[in-house]
Amino acid sequence: MDVFEIEGSRRLSGEIEVNGSKNAALPLMAAALLTTEPITFDDVPDLSDIRNMQMLLTELGCAIERTGQHSCILHTTDTTESHARYDIVKTMRASVCVLGPLLAARGKARVSLPGGCAIGQRPIDLHLRGLEALGATFELQEGDVIGRVPGGRLRGARVFLGGAFGSTVLGTANVMSAATLAEGTTVIESAACEPEIVDVANLLNSMGAKITGAGSPRIVVEGVKELGGANHRVIPDRIEAGTLMVAAAITAGDLTITNCPLDALMAATNCLEQIGVEVRALDDESSMRARVRVQGGRAFNPCDITTQPHPGFPTDLQAQFMALLTLADGTSVITEKIFPERFLHVAELSRMGAQLFRQGPTAIVSGVRRLVGAPVMASDLRASAGLVLAGLAAEGTTRVLRVYHLDRGYEKLEERLATVGAQIKRVTVED
Ligand code: EPU
Repeated sequence: MDVFEIEGSRRLSGEIEVNGSKNAALPLMAAALLTTEPITFDDVPDLSDIRNMQMLLTELGCAIERTGQHSCILHTTDTTESHARYDIVKTMRASVCVLGPLLAARGKARVSLPGGCAIGQRPIDLHLRGLEALGATFELQEGDVIGRVPGGRLRGARVFLGGAFGSTVLGTANVMSAATLAEGTTVIESAACEPEIVDVANLLNSMGAKITGAGSPRIVVEGVKELGGANHRVIPDRIEAGTLMVAAAITAGDLTITNCPLDALMAATNCLEQIGVEVRALDDESSMRARVRVQGGRAFNPCDITTQPHPGFPTDLQAQFMALLTLADGTSVITEKIFPERFLHVAELSRMGAQLFRQGPTAIVSGVRRLVGAPVMASDLRASAGLVLAGLAAEGTTRVLRVYHLDRGYEKLEERLATVGAQIKRVTVED
């Protein structure tokens, strides 16, 4: 098992670049199943989730050629296999994003049900409801969802994707991708507005799809008969960028973050400003790929945070901001409205001296003057990031166990943080 050993209380400074977005890359890669022409991708992060997706796509007949550390060509050459097996799906829930493309391109799909994970129950009912509206039928067999398209081609329809916790990001990607090859026009109401959806729509449009409205709650897709190849550069990862901003803040550091999707981070930067962290764009060449200077001070103000669908505060930054607010001068209230159970980091941060009280979907964070290093257990991807950030600020040594969770979403984080002054190293220990 790999462990991060962090000697805290080191101020970070220097320049650090944001990698391509994992959560955009996963549905983007699945879109390669919609065509038998090659798609070239740049800025694909080198992560275990991406490798799992490559494995899945290979099983589904898509040949993958890696042309560089962050680039690859995906080319679907064999359309006979349409089964996303439990072995892969259980390691990566996002495997479900092959469902829409398979139904649209092959008229059938068998995808193992992902089940829950550390952050909650995570059903896929909205994905199925949306695809059913386009004419697919589903049955459940041995834990797999088996989808069929009577007549072989989906039909455009009006689809409502709102659920108890808002819209669904991957559900929107699934329905939007499927609708590109449907007969007629699809209108998706209550679509997810996340930047990753815009990126998927941009790729699909360059493949020949006719999508308008991506990034708003109403997406219109005019179906076409076929899609072709394309070249695509994945957007930078807004969650990695937000995590690096907190790294600067929590160490009273001074980081220049490049390739930073500032436009996609309004809620997070607004909180940072309330907390007293200076966030300044150094150029305005492209606000999705900006150079941003983030400077933390010695004292932080408290800040109340409620996670919401984009453009609200992202659930994927909740743990990292909680780590920061443990050191604020006062009390903050953090409410989780997307995954109400996503609080496994609370107990671990408490081991480092944080004063936290959780009740239901809310955590009360009473700021303390210092955190102290401790062995802590990573439980999911973003909780791990929160623990690493706390370790960077804490006095003494923090050991973050089970960093394989972190490796799912942050490429060589320890090496990159070390280049800006963190004392952090990866060690392998007996499990
Ligand atoms: N939901 C339903 N029914 C569904 C789908 C979702 O009730 O059919 C609920 C979920 O349980 C949750 C809410 O709707 O309460 C939002 O879930 P969503 O479907 O939007 O999540 P997702 O698409 O499965 C993506 C990201 C997550 C991120 C969420 C929310 C990827 C690969 N994953 O998941 O990222 O937290 O959107 O923004 O894009 C992460 O990167 O650490 C991560 C978990």
